[in-house]
Amino acid sequence: MSDSIVRIAGGARLDGSVQVSGGKNDALPCMAAALLTRERVTLRNVPTIADVRYLAQILQALGADVHYEPDAHEISIQAGAELTDAPPDDLVHRLRGSFLVAGPLLARVGRVVCAAPGGDEIGRRPVDVHLRGFENFGARARHENGHFEIEADQLRGARVVLDYPSVLGTENLILAAVLAEGRTVIVNAAMEPEIFCLGAMLNDMGASVAGAGSNTITIDGVEALGGCEHSLIPDRIEAGTLATAAVITGGDVELRGVQPRQMDAILAKLTEIGATVDESIEAGVERVRVRAASTLRAADVQAVPYPGLATDLQALVTTLLTQAEGDSTVHERVFENRLGYVEELKRMGASIEATGSTAIVHGPTPLRGAVVHGLDIRSAASLVIAALAAEGVTELRDAEHLARGYECLDEKLRSLGADVAPLTPPIGAPGG
Ligand code: EPU
Repeated sequence: MSDSIVRIAGGARLDGSVQVSGGKNDALPCMAAALLTRERVTLRNVPTIADVRYLAQILQALGADVHYEPDAHEISIQAGAELTDAPPDDLVHRLRGSFLVAGPLLARVGRVVCAAPGGDEIGRRPVDVHLRGFENFGARARHENGHFEIEADQLRGARVVLDYPSVLGTENLILAAVLAEGRTVIVNAAMEPEIFCLGAMLNDMGASVAGAGSNTITIDGVEALGGCEHSLIPDRIEAGTLATAAVITGGDVELRGVQPRQMDAILAKLTEIGATVDESIEAGVERVRVRAASTLRAADVQAVPYPGLATDLQALVTTLLTQAEGDSTVHERVFENRLGYVEELKRMGASIEATGSTAIVHGPTPLRGAVVHGLDIRSAASLVIAALAAEGVTELRDAEHLARGYECLDEKLRSLGADVAPLTPPIGAPGG
């Protein structure tokens, strides 16, 4: 990774209205779904982020024809030709979502050879849920020379009971099952909104997916799928990040183009901490306005699967709680190693005791600018919001993590009045 830097001068109160981009974690499975048909698939509201570009490169390397227009937030994919079965290792290592090509390749080609996927280092991230599911469908999976080799002559639908409601695991199994012979039932499925969205897209392509977004999904395999045009849902994690940034700066920010019901947990937690949240619809666009209170209250937090508070917002809420009156306890229940950023926050003046997956935050403590390091997408974002509330200038190193998951976060914050220098290289620029 290159050492991108972003400098942030703290103290400005965020004020204004900002458009939320399309969802990163919705874009990736929907792009992978395009491999399931020879016809063209067009996705709209696609965020301009590095992870989309990496997956686009993987689809291209597999044999798909890909047109990505970042400025138009559109990507068009046609996997009309024969596909290869081996996504390139260097790209697979760049993002966890790369493993989503496994399900479609098994369905289309009957075989996939894929390196262990990369992505954020936030704990053990096995793929056993994916592999066991594929095996339930009749595939054979082995791990050799650092690669998963998975093969199936014909996938057969099955009842699959997940050990854990893995998000990408559920998505991969849906992607494999839509073209399998017969009925699949996925029990203990992940319920994230992105899974509902994937199910809707696949149904538009001619699949039969029922219950996506609930904990039991039923899929009746079909012979073939057709193309579609599909619009991605807003990025609820980006929206939660901007909302938390508003509160930590004592600000007043309107988020445009959100789906408030997908943000219930974060909006409820921000309200408990002291923010005022108002929802409205204007000109058909849903909006959430978040206003900070003059004093913030401590709160206990559990980061859990949807519809609970997202693990992807845990670092952001913990950072906010450094400015709340009293002691807060934060439990990270999804990943075992997602509190690494606490050491960075402590360098900025936070008083936090982290043991295992629990953090006790003593607040409020004034934050001061420092040189800190982003460890992953969300920890980098949490250091950005800490910097907004800090006195003086913060230099965030390894800031390229931001470009993987946030579209122009620096620009959006500047538009709300923050003193954030452009990320070098700029967020969302090709090649980052
Ligand atoms: N797990 C297993 N076995 C598996 C898969 C997962 O034990 O086969 C465990 C993991 O070790 C972890 C837990 O299940 O403890 C949750 O992992 P999950 O599989 O649900 O996460 P993921 O699908 O790899 C997606 C998002 C993450 C987000 C998590 C949880 C994408 C591309 N990634 O990852 O997003 O944190 O779900 O909501 O959708 C991010 O956007 O910054 C990010 C890390």
